[in-house]
Amino acid sequence: MPAFSIVPDVKKTQCLIVPVFEEKGLSAHAKTLDAVFDGVLSRVYEAKDFEGKKLQMSFGYTAQKDLRRVLLIGLGKQKDFSMRVWKEAVGAGIIAAQGKKAARTALVVPAQVVKSFGPKLAGQETVTAAEIAQYAFDEYKKKEDRVTRIDEVLLVSDAPAGDMRQMQKGIDEGRIIAECVNASRDLGNTPPGIMTPTLLAKRAQELAKGVANLKATVFTKTEIQKHKMGCLLGVSQGSVEEPRFIILEYRGAGKNQKPTVLVGKGITFDSGGLSLKPENYMKDMKFDMLGGAAVIGATLAAAKLKLKKNVVALVPACENMPSGSSYRPDDILIAMNGRSVHIGNTDAEGRVILADALCYAAKYQPKEVIDFATLTGACMVALGLERSGLFTEDETLAARIDGSAQKVGEQLWRLPLGDEYRESMKSDVADITNMGKDRYGGASQGAVFLEFFTKDTKTGEALYPWAHVDMASAIYGGTGKPWIRPGANGFGVQGMVEYLR
Ligand code: BES
Ligand code: MN
Ligand code: ZN
Repeated sequence: MPAFSIVPDVKKTQCLIVPVFEEKGLSAHAKTLDAVFDGVLSRVYEAKDFEGKKLQMSFGYTAQKDLRRVLLIGLGKQKDFSMRVWKEAVGAGIIAAQGKKAARTALVVPAQVVKSFGPKLAGQETVTAAEIAQYAFDEYKKKEDRVTRIDEVLLVSDAPAGDMRQMQKGIDEGRIIAECVNASRDLGNTPPGIMTPTLLAKRAQELAKGVANLKATVFTKTEIQKHKMGCLLGVSQGSVEEPRFIILEYRGAGKNQKPTVLVGKGITFDSGGLSLKPENYMKDMKFDMLGGAAVIGATLAAAKLKLKKNVVALVPACENMPSGSSYRPDDILIAMNGRSVHIGNTDAEGRVILADALCYAAKYQPKEVIDFATLTGACMVALGLERSGLFTEDETLAARIDGSAQKVGEQLWRLPLGDEYRESMKSDVADITNMGKDRYGGASQGAVFLEFFTKDTKTGEALYPWAHVDMASAIYGGTGKPWIRPGANGFGVQGMVEYLR
């Protein structure tokens, strides 16, 4: 991980990244840097190569040995500025610098950024954006083809000393958060033949090891059987890989404080099972455990930041495979709470394994339960690839989750739960079916299936406040973007960390 430090000016670096707003041109601060470096920045402007449009980039070269290269990057119009724009610009700048093999970089943090977000959040988010950008999953490539790792990022700021101290605090926390985001991405990117449920569980235990007040527990198949998690067992039975049920418990507050329980889908590979996916849909299904990876990352970050909260992560993990021992369409599985689930389609497996996890969550008498799952293609059809669906009937919970996401540049959009979807999930032969009567509103159908398991089996009352995030789009979130590389993008970790504080 690169070293980050704040400096008032810079004399020596392999690439000086200078973000500028469209209408404002070079800031007073940038002009002082420009003067030191032979007016290279203003020359880029004079050549009309660059106007500061959002994510526009232009390199300029000085005659100075210690600082040869500058990179101007556009922040767009000030009225459209947001945390997301800032993080995209930082990320794009870092990746462009890596393209020039610049391991030591400097990034100007404009006064406007410190003013807009406050010094602490500005520091934190600049660091997470840079860290997330510089990450590449290239350990399987030959050495010469691997991405240049950034050793050092100097954050160049003319903020007053008090602000600098706050910024430094943010930098320290941002490093921890980013480390957990990237750890979560590593889990997702690792090939599915390697990242089996067993290894996912082992990695979760390794990540938790030595972290104060963080405990990892893994249920093996026998323990899953003992807990009567018939849904997780059913989905896993077609694979030679055994299922695991991963539990991380972080105690950052008193025993009597109810925990927030985060549940994450941990399908390490989704072939669709006997309802086999066509090959172009099966590709990328190693990422079907990104929900699990996100809640592991968020809980780890909460513990490392020593947040004064109790947090639990639950990850039902298994493979969805076709074989002679697979669960079949028309099978009926019995969830941990005794409810029966008719299988209409073995490819709607995520909701099925999450059913057991949502039942298990009730044991904690949680303050709230939030689940993260790459649940439906329908959610991507509805919202595209840069936004996840948020489902809950709890307005305060919705506002808090959405607000935290926005603060760190993650995008959510509220989608409905409702009786028409609940109706669609009724079964002739069991308490509920995993496949709706038609394909319309598929994301909401998945959501109400989950909701069924958040209710008391006798009274039908909610066991706890609950929200569901359908993050199917996270699978493609890194594709074709200048600020992040393709593959797992770590969606959910930053938003949840912000939520938990
Ligand atoms: N893991 C998939 C959903 C998915 C698809 C995530 C594409 C990311 C990209 C999930 O298990 C699935 O297969 N869902 C089905 C449900 C259907 C059979 C009711 C879907 O969305 O087609
Ligand atoms: Mn599936
Ligand atoms: Zn799936």
